[in-house]
Amino acid sequence: MDARSVVRTKRDGGQLSEAEMRWFLEAYVRGEVADYQAAALVACIFTRGMTPEELVTWTRAMLESGRRLAFDELGQKKADKHSTGGIGDKVSIPLAPAVAACGVAVPMISGRGLGHTGGTLDKLEAIPGFRVRLSEDELHRVIGRTGVAFGAQTEELVPADRKLYQLRDATGLVESIPLIASSILSKKLAEGLDALVLDVKFGSGAFLPEVERGAELARVMLGIARSMGVAATAFHTAMDRPLGAAVGHALEIAESLECLAGGGPADLRELVVLQGAEMLRLCGRADSLADGRRQLGEALDSGRARRVFELVVAEQGGDPRVVTDPALLPRASHVDPWKAQTSGFLAFRDLREVGWAAAALGGGRARIEDQIDPAVGLVWRRRAGERVEAGELLCEIHHQGGRGLEACRARLSAAVAIGEHVEPQPLVRASWPG
Ligand code: URA
Repeated sequence: MDARSVVRTKRDGGQLSEAEMRWFLEAYVRGEVADYQAAALVACIFTRGMTPEELVTWTRAMLESGRRLAFDELGQKKADKHSTGGIGDKVSIPLAPAVAACGVAVPMISGRGLGHTGGTLDKLEAIPGFRVRLSEDELHRVIGRTGVAFGAQTEELVPADRKLYQLRDATGLVESIPLIASSILSKKLAEGLDALVLDVKFGSGAFLPEVERGAELARVMLGIARSMGVAATAFHTAMDRPLGAAVGHALEIAESLECLAGGGPADLRELVVLQGAEMLRLCGRADSLADGRRQLGEALDSGRARRVFELVVAEQGGDPRVVTDPALLPRASHVDPWKAQTSGFLAFRDLREVGWAAAALGGGRARIEDQIDPAVGLVWRRRAGERVEAGELLCEIHHQGGRGLEACRARLSAAVAIGEHVEPQPLVRASWPG
């Protein structure tokens, strides 16, 4: 087989065979297909798309380019959730231990933040000592003892995606629905899951802001998961305002701990309970969504979910005292108020700017190798849709001695509009239950 003939097939609008896709991906991982040849194929997929059958085969070939995880020793159903991310999305952190507390194991392989969004792994690393680079043996040990493990993609897990995602990022070829869907699903399905819940965001802070594009991504991902025998549900949820109040790594851990103690912001709790309940239902641990909600709510309110999280923190090398004493989390040297300039109703005209505002303080990275400061960030004191008066506190800026403060304020001014009342979007716009 030859890279040029595979590229030509796609270039001319043809359908790739299973043998062509497997050969291409395997040869790419071995270094026998060059980056420029892979970039040419990706560009052709970007413009020509893929049929549903082609996409399932492509995803399976990506998944089989490396090792697959299996946790058969647990004798338990395994479920995970994936969010397309956004501003203040910390749902995975309380969700995973709450689901484990209800009897479903959660082998969660997550990513890091890039650009305007934060990543679950970076947030967890705000806990002093917490290690996310776990070997396969460590993943098995942690999940065996606690029902949850929070890990990073290893060298062996879906190497085809690691190479292709970097290539797409470097060549402006990320925003293609088949490429995104196969990238996300190959990583999630390598966890050996029984069930998967997808949280696809829409709104100005989302990876795909337009409602229709997000809905299409959800449907495509569901098609792949189901044809691979994994029960799956997708939710389409709002990212036109921050989720919860905190944006920033240690601040989001503190807010997750409030949720794990039965409190915290209502929107955060709603998504944790809803998505956790659906994971239980898909795994047969809840008779209905209502039953799942009841179980999830009880796990949070009784402190059982919090105890699971405490165990996970200790197992992954973190300081478990943080769970009951969030003052042990890293703290910024200064907290400044950011106030409303005029009176009216608060709305976010461009939520991405809130992510960039936190990044300007040192709490984000433009390149994957950049260091982040876990202590900095924002805490919103007013919600979208509320009336505010000139001079009122809108959010607190947690910064290190003024570093990035002016840029942060400028970004916040670009993010926010105060004026006529605009009704925020419903938190959950649609769902596609499995
Ligand atoms: N996240 C992924 O893992 N892959 C993509 O292609 C886009 C977002």
